[in-house]
Amino acid sequence: MRLARLPQENARMQGAERRRWLRRHSPAHLEAVERLVLRTLRARGPQNPARTVVLGAGACTELPLARLAAASDEVLLVDVDIPGMLHARDELPADRRGRVNVVQADLTGGVSASLAAELARQPWADLAALGGHVGNAPLDAVAGCLERCPVADPPRIAELAPHGYGVVISSLVLTQLYSLPLLDIVDALSVYAPGAVDRRELHARYREAALRFRRRIALAHLALLRELLAPDGAALLITDVTGYLVPARGGPHGGNAREALPVLPPEVLRLPEDLAAQGWHGEPPLTWQWVASLPDATRPGRTYDVTGIVLRRASAT
Ligand SMILES: C[S@@+](CC[C@H](N)C(=O)[O-])C[C@H]1O[C@@H](n2cnc3c(N)ncnc32)[C@H](O)[C@@H]1O
Repeated sequence: MRLARLPQENARMQGAERRRWLRRHSPAHLEAVERLVLRTLRARGPQNPARTVVLGAGACTELPLARLAAASDEVLLVDVDIPGMLHARDELPADRRGRVNVVQADLTGGVSASLAAELARQPWADLAALGGHVGNAPLDAVAGCLERCPVADPPRIAELAPHGYGVVISSLVLTQLYSLPLLDIVDALSVYAPGAVDRRELHARYREAALRFRRRIALAHLALLRELLAPDGAALLITDVTGYLVPARGGPHGGNAREALPVLPPEVLRLPEDLAAQGWHGEPPLTWQWVASLPDATRPGRTYDVTGIVLRRASAT
């Protein structure tokens, strides 16, 4: 499962060195995240518990954890990546570390595991042999896996207290919640039906099932924010919306226009309409560009359009 590999991958892509890189190549990203965190702290009402929970905290490469710890009695970091979160805590001055606790959890409530079980039940040899006239049997099978996969709404995470946090932050995790299980499908197809991998978005049933799967997970995540937030608290949703592949500077694609990859299309989540429908009142969003990697002579770079919205429950405004 891709989810299980995250701690290893995060170790390369997160932490103090990565923050220094971002400061140099993508300062607007760090500034925007910090500005939004400060706005969220200001937006929480006077009656809220001074407890903060950060979903998708990782090593807090982008998040100003010291600021959060200064403004909270407790900061709870939640991620699958325990070493990353402990690293973030260790970066704090000694007198602030005691305020930071970590919880290891799958924020979807176990979608990757459920999908892996569905995939393991497929009669792959028969499906590949069946294939159908255009080899659609494996794609029908994985579409069925997505359709049947349960998505708890909201996900239950035993260590988190319902309505227990004055500040709830979803920190660039939303699109990963569905991208990683969908990559598990790509991995399974690559092994058992490699010819089907690149045809999946052309297959109507798969395309529809993947879209609905992403939407179910996105709405369940918003419901989790609502479930965790104290009535007088403020939440912050930071998410990438569109990714761009910036061509390598040389080679056959050098000089081409960048390619856009929608990672949070409106069919998955309409911002702000879906927030309003769930009873949120959002401040005007902030949007900016995050440079994740630069192109070099042979490899493309990646940038993302990111949006951040400070949210309160509509009844609290
Ligand atoms: C882009 S990183 C965000 C990093 C972090 N906010 C920061 O300031 O460095 C996304 C994080 O989400 C975590 N993640 C992805 N899917 C997850 C899941 N299903 N459950 C829990 N954490 C997840 C990853 O481990 C990673 O740390």
